[in-house]
Amino acid sequence: MSKKKKKKYNPKEYQEKDLLVPYHEVKLAKTTHVMDHPLVEHKINIMRNHKTNVSEFRSLLEEVTILLCYEAMRGLALEDYEIVTPICKTIGKRISGKKLTVVPILRAGLGMEPAVKNVVPVSRTGHAGFFRDEKTLKPQKYYWKLPRKINKRQAFVLDPMLATGGTADAVIRKLKKKGCKSICFMCVIAAPQGVEVLQDNHPDVELYIAHLDKGLNKYGYIVPGLGDAGDRIFGTK
Ligand code: URA
Repeated sequence: MSKKKKKKYNPKEYQEKDLLVPYHEVKLAKTTHVMDHPLVEHKINIMRNHKTNVSEFRSLLEEVTILLCYEAMRGLALEDYEIVTPICKTIGKRISGKKLTVVPILRAGLGMEPAVKNVVPVSRTGHAGFFRDEKTLKPQKYYWKLPRKINKRQAFVLDPMLATGGTADAVIRKLKKKGCKSICFMCVIAAPQGVEVLQDNHPDVELYIAHLDKGLNKYGYIVPGLGDAGDRIFGTK
């Protein structure tokens, strides 16, 4: 019996406009911040290229995450404390309150976490593992571990891709259920559908997005996107 060979997917054969599932333009809320910076644009477009290898992709993801942190952490509260410099005593400032918490959504969020740890080495890490139930299409939790006293900590949820928004919504709901009052969501590429879901369901959550893309294809991938972020970070297919 002859088996028909499946044709290999070739992105060169497709135009973004032909893949997009129609969706209206989303009105950005005051809590949604889209980065507008040449460094970010330049790096993201190298990440998009299907020829960019795993190690380059990871480095660029970390560089973009550091730039996102710079914006997302602008509002951190400071407190005064005394420092003695080689010259004299003075009053300096440091970040106040309980150690902030980074919550990477498994698995692609793990690619952003080292960058946040670089800029905030004392931060704590929680892990949020969710998969999509093929029947209900709803996100199902398979792993969840947070630092103690999450109700007193500021949480920075990480996922490079905000697509339909289903998983991000589930993670944020669960953090709120645990008493977390201050939540920020950080992603590299967002689709309008995901932004709308988070804006509607969580008007109190700040969204930091490096780039807002055109939309989703029928399989839920962001267009033009960068493919499966987890595969690109971990070299899987
Ligand atoms: N998750 C990804 O990794 N990529 C997409 O395009 C959408 C969701």
